Amino acid sequence: MYDNPRLVIDSSNPPEPGSIVWRSPSNIAIIKYWGKYGLQLPRNPSLSLTLASSFTDTSLEYAINDNPSGSGIDLEFYFHQEENEAFKAKIQAFLETLAPVFPFLKQLKLVIRTGNSFPHSAGIASSASAMSALALCLCSLEDMLFGTLQEPDVFDRKASWVARLGSGSACRSVFPHAAVWGETQHVKEASNEYAVPVGDLIHDTFKDFHDDILIVSSDEKSVSSRAGHALMDGNPFAETRYAQARQRLPVLLDAMRTGDLDTFGKIAEDEALTLHALMMCSNPSYLLMQPGSVAIIEKVRAYRQATGRPLYFTLDAGPNVHLLYPGEIIHEVRAFIEEELKKYCENGRYQEDWVGEGPEEM
Ligand code: DP6
Repeated sequence: MYDNPRLVIDSSNPPEPGSIVWRSPSNIAIIKYWGKYGLQLPRNPSLSLTLASSFTDTSLEYAINDNPSGSGIDLEFYFHQEENEAFKAKIQAFLETLAPVFPFLKQLKLVIRTGNSFPHSAGIASSASAMSALALCLCSLEDMLFGTLQEPDVFDRKASWVARLGSGSACRSVFPHAAVWGETQHVKEASNEYAVPVGDLIHDTFKDFHDDILIVSSDEKSVSSRAGHALMDGNPFAETRYAQARQRLPVLLDAMRTGDLDTFGKIAEDEALTLHALMMCSNPSYLLMQPGSVAIIEKVRAYRQATGRPLYFTLDAGPNVHLLYPGEIIHEVRAFIEEELKKYCENGRYQEDWVGEGPEEM
């Protein structure tokens, strides 16, 4: 879709060395992307809230390469100031697949320095923030060299498309407040290829909204998201699940437009439990929730029942529980976490996060 053989640097007029820095946040899906086909295309539309405090900072330094190797991409890579061969190999392979989109990458020497606002082992998904930050740097570099992405909407769409190829959920991090990824007639211009912003379609309640991430375990997951998506191919409930997500999207959008927290919360919790149910009935079956996750879920439901306060949970593909609630009950919820939930967290850890304004160029 974005292959462009004209994006080649004129060697008689090379750019001065420089650098680009982006900060990009993670996001939390309310309707989940789980199951994909082809080149990172989703089986159903998903909707997420863009977060703020869980982010990746990525700097991309570039200089013309006087001795290009011809084949590969010349890359130095640092994660939290240290060389990291495993991450480097992943990023290098990703950049090489992007050669038809950004042919100029092979003409440059690149240095990428990246780091997260949260500890790598916190069990907080970092692929969405990391891949969106990298995609934004690449689009800024293209625009700096060729002036081809001057229109903000054009820039964002391409960044979202590139981010998707790195990690599906990353395409939704490019936009403020909320985004939808995947075809649906209910959102104008929605596509399987990139996410679109829906922040303008939601009630202010969801712009002053919190997602505190309770770290039940930071151990490496037994089954990666990538492997989990692949297992959907043989899951007997797959088609029913995809249909459910498609039907649910307009219901969620309507609830978010009107500020209907009750419907929002029902969908959010059902999506989380459905995601984990799909894992449990995959072949082979697996379980990522832990006793602490279940204990928290039960406590959240009992708290809501007893107080009537709109506190809900969701889960990623892991044991950590995300607490979703509007800003107006923050003091009550934080007290509840401290008194009742913190004991289920690894070393009492949780990350306070909230709905944010999207990525920033630094
Ligand atoms: C459960 O985006 O991590 O968080 O495309 O293989 O990188 P890849 O998968 P990834 O899957 C995210 C799954 C999820 C739901 C969601 O974010 O929609």
